[in-house]
Amino acid sequence: MKKMQRKVIRFLKQYRMDPADVDFAESVEAFLSEMQRGLAGRKSTLEMIPTYLTTENEVPIGKRVIVADAGGTNFRVATVYFDADKKPVIENLHVFTMPGVERQLSRVEFFNAMAEYFCSVADMSENIGFCFSYPVEIQPNKDGRMIRFSKEIKVTGVEGQLVGEHLNRALVAMGLPAGKHIVLLNDTVATLLAGVGYQNRVFDSFIGFILGTGTNCAYIEHNAEIKKKKGLDPRGTQIINTESGGMGRGYRGTLDVRFDKTTVNPGVNVFEKMISGAYLGPLCLFVLRQACRDGLFSKHAAAILNTLSDFDTKDMNMFLLYPYGGNPLAEACRQGGVEDILTAWYIADRLTERAAKLSAVNLAAMAVKSGRGIDPTRPICIVAEGTTFYKMKSLKSRIEYYLKQFLENKKGIFTDMAQVENATLIGAAIAGLTN
Ligand code: BGC
Repeated sequence: MKKMQRKVIRFLKQYRMDPADVDFAESVEAFLSEMQRGLAGRKSTLEMIPTYLTTENEVPIGKRVIVADAGGTNFRVATVYFDADKKPVIENLHVFTMPGVERQLSRVEFFNAMAEYFCSVADMSENIGFCFSYPVEIQPNKDGRMIRFSKEIKVTGVEGQLVGEHLNRALVAMGLPAGKHIVLLNDTVATLLAGVGYQNRVFDSFIGFILGTGTNCAYIEHNAEIKKKKGLDPRGTQIINTESGGMGRGYRGTLDVRFDKTTVNPGVNVFEKMISGAYLGPLCLFVLRQACRDGLFSKHAAAILNTLSDFDTKDMNMFLLYPYGGNPLAEACRQGGVEDILTAWYIADRLTERAAKLSAVNLAAMAVKSGRGIDPTRPICIVAEGTTFYKMKSLKSRIEYYLKQFLENKKGIFTDMAQVENATLIGAAIAGLTN
C-alpha cells in the first residue's frame, strides 16, 4: 500500500502537482500581497471589487423583493420577504438553465433569455436583488459592469456592459414591467450577507466562501484600505468581492499550466482551475492520462482511460467513494487490477487534498487581511456554499484541518464554518431590500 502511495507521490511531485508542493505560509503571503495591490488599483490578478455594501442592514418586514441567482449551472428566480420574526420567506421559485451553458450566445440572446426567466415574477416588486456569480465591476448605484465570464460560460459581447441596464432594456423589449431598481451582487457577497444574522451568535467578522462550479471569497475591509476608490468614508467598512479564483501568482503545477490550455478561456481564473467543480474532474483525467503515458497503469487500464471522455468532478467523487465499480473510472481500472485501482485512487485523492490545502490558503489570507478573529469567543464566521465544498469526499474536513493548523495554531486567529440554507437568494433579498 505504502509503496503504491510513494509511487504516486513521486509521479505527482515530478510535475509539482502534489499537495506537499504547496508551501502554505508562502502562498498566503502571495495572496496578501496580491490583495493589497488589487485594493490600491495596481496590476493584480485579484480584482478586489468594492461592493458599496455593508453588513449593517435593517431589513424591512413584510416587503417583497424579486431575487435572481445566476450561477454556473442554474438560473433561479423567486420572490422573498422577511416575516415578523425576521425569517426570510421564499416564494415563486423557478429554476432554469444558466444561459450560455449549453451553447454559445450573443449579447442580445443572453439578456433576452434572462428577461424571459423573469416573466412570472416581473410584476411583483420594483426592486430586484440580483446575485450574479461572475466578475462584475459594481457601480456606486449598484448596477455592475461585466468584466468577463468564467466557469466555461459561452457568451460574446457582454464584457464592459452594464448588466442591470441591459436586463431592464430586455424586459421592456418583452413587454414586461421594467424600470426596475436592480442591485447586483456576487454570490460570495450574498452568502456573506445571509450569514450575518446566523444563529444570533456574536462574530467578529464574516467571510463569504463559494466552492462549487467556480470558487471565490468575499470579506469585510476598511474603506481606508481601498486606496483605488476616492471619496469613501475612511471610518467605514464594506464588503469586497476579491474574485480569488483569478489568483495567478505563486504556486501552480506543470500539469495545471498544460491543462489550462485545454479550457474555454486559457489564462483566466487559473486558481479556480486547480480546485473548483467545473475543473477538478477534468484535471484529474488530464493527470491520469499523463500517468498512463508515464507507465503507472497497466496496458489494459491505460487503453480504457485514454478513451474516457466527459469525466467530471461528480465522476471523480463517485470513484473516491466507490472505487470498485458503478462509475466510469472504477470500471476502467477494474479491467486492469488492484494496483490500477489504488494508483487512480491515490491520484484522485491527492488532487482533492491539494484542492483543500489551496482553499484553506485562500480562506486564511482573507482572515488575516480582515485583521479580525483574535478573540476565540468572537471568531470570524466563514459562510460557505457550494456542492464541491459539501459533497466532495473529505474536502471540507481537510480545509478545516489546514485552517486550524495555520490560523488557530500559528496565527491565533479563530474561525467557525456556517452553512445557511438558500444563502444566495436570502443575501440577494437583503441587498435588494436595503439599497
Ligand atoms: C466567478 C466568481 C464567483 C465564483 C463562485 C467564479 O468563477 O468568477 O464571480 O463568485 O465563480 O461562483
